[in-house]
Amino acid sequence: EAELYTVYKGVFLPTALHSPESLKYYEEFSFRPDDIIVVTYPKSGTTWSQEILPLILSGGDAAAIETLPNWDRVPWLEELRACVLDLEQRPSRRVFATHFHYNMMPPSFFKTKPQVIYIMRNPKDVFTSSFHYYGMASYLVNPGTQKEFLHKFLDGKIMFGSWFDHIKGWLNAEDQERILYIAYEEMIMDLQDSVARLAQFLERPLSSEVIEKIAERCAFKNMKQNKMSNYSLVPPGFMDLDKSHFLRKGIAGDWKNQLTVAEAEYFDAVYKEKMKDVKYKFVWD
Ligand code: PPS
Repeated sequence: EAELYTVYKGVFLPTALHSPESLKYYEEFSFRPDDIIVVTYPKSGTTWSQEILPLILSGGDAAAIETLPNWDRVPWLEELRACVLDLEQRPSRRVFATHFHYNMMPPSFFKTKPQVIYIMRNPKDVFTSSFHYYGMASYLVNPGTQKEFLHKFLDGKIMFGSWFDHIKGWLNAEDQERILYIAYEEMIMDLQDSVARLAQFLERPLSSEVIEKIAERCAFKNMKQNKMSNYSLVPPGFMDLDKSHFLRKGIAGDWKNQLTVAEAEYFDAVYKEKMKDVKYKFVWD
């Protein structure tokens, strides 16, 4: 178990995806002011944004999402792939993803102040999605029973640490005018409106026809068909697709099918305590 995770700045990272070299690459990375960084705690809408943002920037041209896998299209800055992709040379506007907490971001991020899209999701659904994912992904520590994984999740003893620390860090970020906060649940409720908000934030005007087309392309059932986005190109051995799928259900509120009443009550009690100082009005509260 121990070797599956590496401890970096106080949180677990999956050893299979991050190396001292890739983390150093990120620490020394030079941002540009017009870069766009999607920030998520894992299982909160990363893959979805890797479909939506390139389509917004291309004005709806689907070549952007049909020619490159999502991890090369909107690469994670902390992952091994970043070192081989020559990210510094990419033409503007570059779009990157990261699961890092605010206080883990490298110096250039604070100096250059690129735009940030922070996507958040009801933590009970993040838990549910994570539980299925940890059960299928061989590079992660086995989740154990649901009860065991619930404690690990609430204590932040999983990859990228605590959901609570992640959200609190980013909600307290400085220079908030460069950050757009959006919830997975808002995207579920009205994807066209969410695409329009994102496009406006990025100052990329789009006609309502194009917005409609982008939302249609990014509907769960359609994204599941895009082999560049559905994780079917992952090398064999990483994920056991007999157990679950990366694009699993794509709904809000699946925790109701997963948590027992007692588990949900316990989750709520921990949530209430840990979030007591947070003023932000979440859509799921
Ligand atoms: S990761 O590992 O952090 O990159 O995972 P991430 O992409 O953030 O989260 C995976 C969950 O997002 C769901 N998803 C979608 N939901 C609705 N519509 C679309 N288009 C979509 N694309 C991805 C995916 O199904 C995972 O959630 P669950 O609840 O497991 O289905």
